[in-house]
Amino acid sequence: MTRRALVSGGAGFIGSHVTDILLANDYAVTVIDNLSSGKREQVPSRASFKELDVCSPDAAALVRDGKFDVICHLAAQIDVRKSVTDPAADANLNIGGSLNLLQAVNQSGYKTRFVFSSTGGAVYGDLVEAPTSEDAPKDPQSPYGTAKFSVELYMGYFARVHGLDCVALRYANVYGPRQDPHGEAGVVAIFCDRLIDGTPLTVFGDGGQTRDYVFVGDVARANLAAATVALPPATGVDSRAFNIGTSVETDVVTLAKVLKEVSGGSSEVVHAAARAGEQRRSAIRNDKAGKLLGWKPKVNIHDGLRDTYGWFAARRTGEKA
Ligand SMILES: NC(=O)c1ccc[n+]([C@@H]2O[C@H](COP(=O)([O-])OP(=O)(O)OC[C@H]3O[C@@H](n4cnc5c(N)ncnc54)[C@H](O)[C@@H]3O)[C@@H](O)[C@H]2O)c1
Repeated sequence: MTRRALVSGGAGFIGSHVTDILLANDYAVTVIDNLSSGKREQVPSRASFKELDVCSPDAAALVRDGKFDVICHLAAQIDVRKSVTDPAADANLNIGGSLNLLQAVNQSGYKTRFVFSSTGGAVYGDLVEAPTSEDAPKDPQSPYGTAKFSVELYMGYFARVHGLDCVALRYANVYGPRQDPHGEAGVVAIFCDRLIDGTPLTVFGDGGQTRDYVFVGDVARANLAAATVALPPATGVDSRAFNIGTSVETDVVTLAKVLKEVSGGSSEVVHAAARAGEQRRSAIRNDKAGKLLGWKPKVNIHDGLRDTYGWFAARRTGEKA
């Protein structure tokens, strides 16, 4: 029988790739998105699309009645800086929207796997060792990270008390085709646009700050694995949490160098004052996802950046045409 999937935020960057891979694996996919940042044209025509807010009673009703085998919940406010300016708005959507869907799954009485898009870049504190494993202390430095980790705690409650089947995927910095400059790997989008324009690539501070850049196609494969793989029952909050990253640290200077190489662009790299409070190092260990989800990243940074730049360049050509 055809398996049924709901993708919230499926018109967005990562969600549209998750939709693609579920369709390619013969799921019947329904996408809900309020198009606040997502684009209708990014939803494949084979998916059923409903323009809905995840906080709405209509979204809850869809989940209660939809008999979904899996819900990949990606709809969110993703801008860490916005969460700092307006923590309540961030929580209303990132916690409230998630609870709306979780409560509806609970009321449905249907066996649905709930796969939540969390963050490996913002739930661990700044002082943990890189690469960080799932059981490292959680000490979010922003309202965004706090909201994401809160949802993981709520999922623990729904699993223990109501038997819900929940999985948290803690993504590293996700980059790839269709990304925009506001996500956690926004620098890739910014550098791609500047290389196309031939304007300078600005690196803050010495550029030695590192991040774990994971390609969006690999993140989509992680959602597919999390949708299907049998997992042991939830125990503590980390038991159903998986870091989805490469375990490799790449610094900003290297990122700029590789992007210049793959693009053939001639933008110069200029340094600006370091940004106050910016985390120095970040990378997450992925061996748990390897063991339990059978997932490993396949795309290295060179190939991933080449494909990403290619997408940005093609989009620019399309705009001009
Ligand atoms: N991009 C990253 O590096 C990264 C890293 C860690 C975690 N994440 C998480 O992955 C998920 C997807 O992020 P993305 O980078 O694809 O962002 P995105 O902004 O491209 O996608 C989010 C989607 O959610 C939709 N949306 C927003 N509010 C909504 C609402 N109230 N109701 C319905 N739809 C709504 C938007 O229109 C958009 O299509 C988010 O949960 C994000 O927190 C992303």
